[in-house]
Amino acid sequence: MPSLALPTPVAPPTAPADAALCMATGDATDLQPELNPLFPAFLDLRGRAVLVVGGGVVALRKITALLPTGARVRVGAPCLIPGIEAMSATGAIEHLDGRFEPAWIDDAWLVVAATDDPDVNRAVAEAAEARRLWVNVVDDAPLCSFQVPARVERGPLQIAISSGGGAPMLARHLRERLETEIDESVGALGTLLVRHRRRIRAGIADTGARRRFFDDVMNSDIQTRLRRGDHDGAERALLTRIEQADTAPRTGRVALVGAGPGDAGLLTLRGLRLLNEADVILHDRLVSAEVLDLARRDAERIEVGKEAGHHHVPQDKIHALMLEHARAGRRVVRLKGGDAFVFGRGGEEIEFLRDHGIGYEVVPGITAALACAAYAGIPLTHRDHAQSVRFVTAHSKAENDELDWAGFAREGQTLAFYMGVAGLERVRARLLAHGRAGSTPCALVENGSRPEQRVVLATLDTLPDTARAHDVRSPALLFVGEVAGLAARLHWFGDAPIGANAGTNDIATTARDPDEAPLAAAA
Ligand SMILES: C[S@@+](CC[C@H](N)C(=O)[O-])C[C@H]1O[C@@H](n2cnc3c(N)ncnc32)[C@H](O)[C@@H]1O
Repeated sequence: MPSLALPTPVAPPTAPADAALCMATGDATDLQPELNPLFPAFLDLRGRAVLVVGGGVVALRKITALLPTGARVRVGAPCLIPGIEAMSATGAIEHLDGRFEPAWIDDAWLVVAATDDPDVNRAVAEAAEARRLWVNVVDDAPLCSFQVPARVERGPLQIAISSGGGAPMLARHLRERLETEIDESVGALGTLLVRHRRRIRAGIADTGARRRFFDDVMNSDIQTRLRRGDHDGAERALLTRIEQADTAPRTGRVALVGAGPGDAGLLTLRGLRLLNEADVILHDRLVSAEVLDLARRDAERIEVGKEAGHHHVPQDKIHALMLEHARAGRRVVRLKGGDAFVFGRGGEEIEFLRDHGIGYEVVPGITAALACAAYAGIPLTHRDHAQSVRFVTAHSKAENDELDWAGFAREGQTLAFYMGVAGLERVRARLLAHGRAGSTPCALVENGSRPEQRVVLATLDTLPDTARAHDVRSPALLFVGEVAGLAARLHWFGDAPIGANAGTNDIATTARDPDEAPLAAAA
């Protein structure tokens, strides 16, 4: 269906009754189009009157974009360039001859001011606002109540890009990139699916089965055929798939997906795919908003997060939720921070699923120790300093602490302590008691891989005091071992480590200039 994409402006919550007046007087401060998120919408203009004021090349551009939508375009101007004149002669548009009159917009649904006279444009905007009509004033964002986005079109598909009028060059640049990246066959596939829409809906009534069918189509050779220009072959393949579609109600499954430490770029492709297919997402508190934003929009999201000491949802309730949704035939993603099998209770969850006959799969994620080490510039192993690495939980209670402290105290290894913020005093005391040197470098990485990441360097002796002094909070990971000190020289992400100059170790005592470009430093 031909349509025109347009965002709806959001009035600021405190917008005065005369917001239109602010707009009309050109005082854009209350409207701040670059700050207010706009609402994207696609308008059905078939048979609806749209007024374009102006008879020059800019108006022609707007008219040309409007006509394919089926709008009744009326063009008001004292004179027209030949291109518009010709449209008027064939009846494609209606010409309102003369200077702008507010009565022109009486029966319009949408108004476009495209003259080169700012006073006329302003008068059009004022008249439209007074009648609560959406108005676009070309190249004058403060006067606009809607903006026309940059568009990429492929058959019935339209991708609209808007910067809210704040950075049109950026939107244009992105459009150019999409133009080259999105194959023309996508449009042909869209056309094919539109043509057989009724048949698909009738043949595959269940929504879940239909989604599976579309996934299947997307992964089939239909698009390859279309790319080759084999439209008949593509259509035959589509019809076969409709006939053979699996319409049986599906049994639910659970995918345990590791979301990584926060940076959405660290999610695996498999994890992303499952998030896009999920009906329900049961996620932990540590899963970042950026990762959740990548999931299917209409997936139900349930936070089952736990904070140290504050169990929001008990483990048996999490089990019950997985079971309930999977038995209802839904695709469940159990999304966990880092990796599900590293201090994530993933083992218990799949044991439970197995016992209850629910199908599952496990998708690994980047565990916090790997991510924090990488983003802090701490090589976990190093030919000169560490030949092994151990992931340890610092969370176990003092009374049932059966950890191998004597083994941990040996040199030549790196220790990565999870959930360590509250247990630093105990870690320090145990390691010192078992002979680890007080000068051993330590690094605390708070919010690793996230924009707010902080790295605090200390030695085993100074660890608890340094953490207190810098108010280190969960989530944070503690590294103990020679390599921890290398962060002072090798860090590249976010701010320089705190304490990098404090002579915390023998290997790395010089902090890099925080302004120095990491790549330049490496070159
Ligand atoms: C319950 S454990 C979950 C570990 C998770 N399954 C993983 O593989 O990373 C939670 C602990 O992981 C560590 N952690 C998780 N995300 C972190 C991050 N972005 N920065 C620092 N530490 C993090 C903290 O030590 C936190 O207390």
